[in-house]
Amino acid sequence: MRLSSFPVEPFKIKMVESIGRTTRAERDKCLRTAGFNVFGLPAEKVFIDLLTDSGTSAMSDRQWAGIMTGDESYAGARSFYRFEKVVRDIFGFAYVIPTHQGRAAERVLFETVLGKNSIVPSNIHFDTTRANIEVRKAKAVDLAAAEAYDPDAILPFKGDMDTSKLEAFLERNGARVPVVMLTVTNNSGGGQPVSLANIRRISAICRRHNVPFFFDACRFAENAWFIKGREKGYERWSVRDIARKMFSFADGATMSAKKDALVNMGGFVTLNDPELAARIKNNLIIGEGFPTYGGLAGRDLEAMAQGLQEVLDESYLEYRTRQVAGLGELLDEARVPYFKPAGGHAIYVLADRLLPQIPRNRFPGWALTVALYRESGIRAVEIGGGMFGRKDPKTGREAFPALELVRLAIPRRVYTASHLGFVAESLAAIARKPERVKGLRIVEEAPFLRHFTARFEEID
Ligand SMILES: Cc1ncc(COP(=O)(O)O)c(C=O)c1O
Repeated sequence: MRLSSFPVEPFKIKMVESIGRTTRAERDKCLRTAGFNVFGLPAEKVFIDLLTDSGTSAMSDRQWAGIMTGDESYAGARSFYRFEKVVRDIFGFAYVIPTHQGRAAERVLFETVLGKNSIVPSNIHFDTTRANIEVRKAKAVDLAAAEAYDPDAILPFKGDMDTSKLEAFLERNGARVPVVMLTVTNNSGGGQPVSLANIRRISAICRRHNVPFFFDACRFAENAWFIKGREKGYERWSVRDIARKMFSFADGATMSAKKDALVNMGGFVTLNDPELAARIKNNLIIGEGFPTYGGLAGRDLEAMAQGLQEVLDESYLEYRTRQVAGLGELLDEARVPYFKPAGGHAIYVLADRLLPQIPRNRFPGWALTVALYRESGIRAVEIGGGMFGRKDPKTGREAFPALELVRLAIPRRVYTASHLGFVAESLAAIARKPERVKGLRIVEEAPFLRHFTARFEEID
């Protein structure tokens, strides 16, 4: 392993948590009990957990200090006003409505704006956004540019939306579109960023058609960092100013604070429209809580307020994105194919290329997550046929998404260079003998977000 692939961490470690090793036999038993679904594994039995970067950040000493100073008043807590001020400063919208996590922000927004026959376009919807739309019998449409699906195209902004498609779509269906979403960075498309030029164009189109434009802003700081490094004219801008500029083109945002607010739980909706904000707050009271806490404790609001400021520290963002790119460089050496370029928060391995002997209907991505865990105790997540495949209710046949990926999401400030070196070595070992990995079939599945609970069996 080349340590030079990795950046020096701009922090030192003040508290540690032990991680236990398991034997291969133990892991095999755990897999069988979990129905070969890594979501069903006890975390204690996982050595390196790359299931998600969501809610898995290490909080800083200052965030923990905020936890102790949280104001737990039911209404009007000091911690809420601090949080509201930080969000307003960064995002620039008038109303700030906390929720317990990102999908709750999506739910209160979509329950308020979606009608019968609504359609919501995005670059690519994340699974919870899509589910929150589809569960209300509305339609979620992806309008990413074609390159978003090309794993080999090395381009700076593969998260961009195809704005000619958006224009044509709104011409035809504008009356049915209550909001246009934009996911930054584009988690379901390789964690790729969206350019400011694209954001500006989307905004102009939405304004022309009188449709509100909202960000799914979970990874806004990583997106802003890529704009600074890759988009002409912004090299000298601070990431904070770039973020502010991004949001200046929109009407609001939903955010899962579990990513770029560096906390373990939290989210919010922020927006400008007073009437819509009032309706969302009414909805919030039914399902989440009073609008100054929205499903969170005062201490959570303190930790989010602090995390939102820390995430804009450019030495942190440089380390963060270099760490992910460093893992990519090691995989290049090991000839493990992945979606290029490396994403902001994750590497997305091209599972169908790594395991060419497993056909799509035998879930090669899922099979890779099983193999990685069985061989090395590493947990990753499939973003392919298991997550996004759809069964035709009449024929029972599966339609598969364009890409069959396994995401190695890197928790923020948690793992060191040697942990990631071990991950690269483990994948390299699978790449040397791919024929040892078996395909799977689904034996049990739920109608929505099936990947969380589906059970599989291996096919010999
Ligand atoms: C792009 C995107 N949107 C929304 C969400 C949902 O956030 P949460 O898990 O906090 O509900 C996620 C979570 O991973 C995400 O990546």
